[in-house]
Amino acid sequence: MKYYVVHMLGWIYRHIAVHFFFLFDSEPIHEFITEGGYYLGKIPGMRALLRAMIRVTHPALRTELAGIVFDIPIGLSAGFDYEGRLPRILSGFGFGFESMGTVTNGAYQGNPYPRIKRLVKSRSMLINKGFKSSGVDSVLRRVGTKSFDIPIGISLGKTNTVAIDTHEQAVADVVEAFKKVEASGVPFAYFELNISCPNLIKDISFYEPSRLRQLLSAVCGLRLSRPLFIKMPIVLSNDETLALVDVVREFPVAAVIIGNLLKDRTDPALDRKEMEEFGKYKGNWSGVPCRRRSDELIRLVYQRTEGTLPIIGVGGVFTAEDAYRKIRLGASLLEMATAPIFEGPQVPAEICADLPALLERDGFSSIKEAVGVDAR
Ligand SMILES: Cc1cc2nc3c(=O)[nH]c(=O)nc-3n(C[C@H](O)[C@H](O)[C@H](O)COP(=O)(O)O)c2cc1C
Repeated sequence: MKYYVVHMLGWIYRHIAVHFFFLFDSEPIHEFITEGGYYLGKIPGMRALLRAMIRVTHPALRTELAGIVFDIPIGLSAGFDYEGRLPRILSGFGFGFESMGTVTNGAYQGNPYPRIKRLVKSRSMLINKGFKSSGVDSVLRRVGTKSFDIPIGISLGKTNTVAIDTHEQAVADVVEAFKKVEASGVPFAYFELNISCPNLIKDISFYEPSRLRQLLSAVCGLRLSRPLFIKMPIVLSNDETLALVDVVREFPVAAVIIGNLLKDRTDPALDRKEMEEFGKYKGNWSGVPCRRRSDELIRLVYQRTEGTLPIIGVGGVFTAEDAYRKIRLGASLLEMATAPIFEGPQVPAEICADLPALLERDGFSSIKEAVGVDAR
């Protein structure tokens, strides 16, 4: 019954609601929807009602990573809920977990406009937000210390400000944010360290192995009380990516998330006409154009680590087939940021309705059995 309900909701979103939402500029409508989600989560019984109607679970989809149980393997990726408005409503739409953020220690109003553009044909967003954040103190206050009904993690990154001039200052800034979260009492299930924002003011980057080592030494030196995941870039070469993965493996990092936005403006998934219109803007691509490189890197990292470093697959996950392909390439969990914009907030429920049949077709009784079978 639920199978039909979620697919019907998907049909309504794709054929009716999306046309209304897309009448507006991306950023104001995004703010409106996430703010609306915040208040929806405050209505007593609303989440339970939505869960009863929309959320799809299946024993084959239940999985465990870093000691955290995930009833549903599809999460909301960082960037969608960067102000922490949605953790108390997301499970109602069928999301299994969330990476809130990226949140930074200090506040930043975001890069100059235009910073988010919608590429409908390419099923992609052009992003140049540059860690817009009201700052970790404000986000922690909003989220509060009440327990969550699904695993919620917080993605932390370097404050995007001209005042941070050196790598040492950047490391100290990130460490400060981790300390504040640790002291806050907010029951996050995991930390996510974002080393891969492509749109920052100063040329401070952790893509150089020694810089990443310096950052991870400082963060892991805090002896965090919760597992640490690292959000990886997909803009580096295979060798550069593997060099970073080798550094990650020197530390108690529980998983890598592969990955962030795509820079390449020649990717065939980008519609040529849309590129003529949007190619002049600064920024990086989300959605379908990220799919190919994210898939390649998931397989590469799975092979390099022989499956010993859990991978969370992100980039162009829109359907159960996308999720299943990434699982077979080495991902234990999946996240999405763009699909809910183009396909509706019920997408995780649609995927969870369709994914068990794909696993069963190939003789798998759980996600765990299928992880990495195409990377061995
Ligand atoms: C509007 C928007 C903002 C984003 N901001 C962040 C961010 O702050 N931190 C981060 O780690 N990733 C950010 N991302 C990247 C996504 O988390 C994700 O890695 C990427 O979009 C690929 O997944 P997708 O194809 O499902 O969108 C953002 C993506 C979008 C669409």
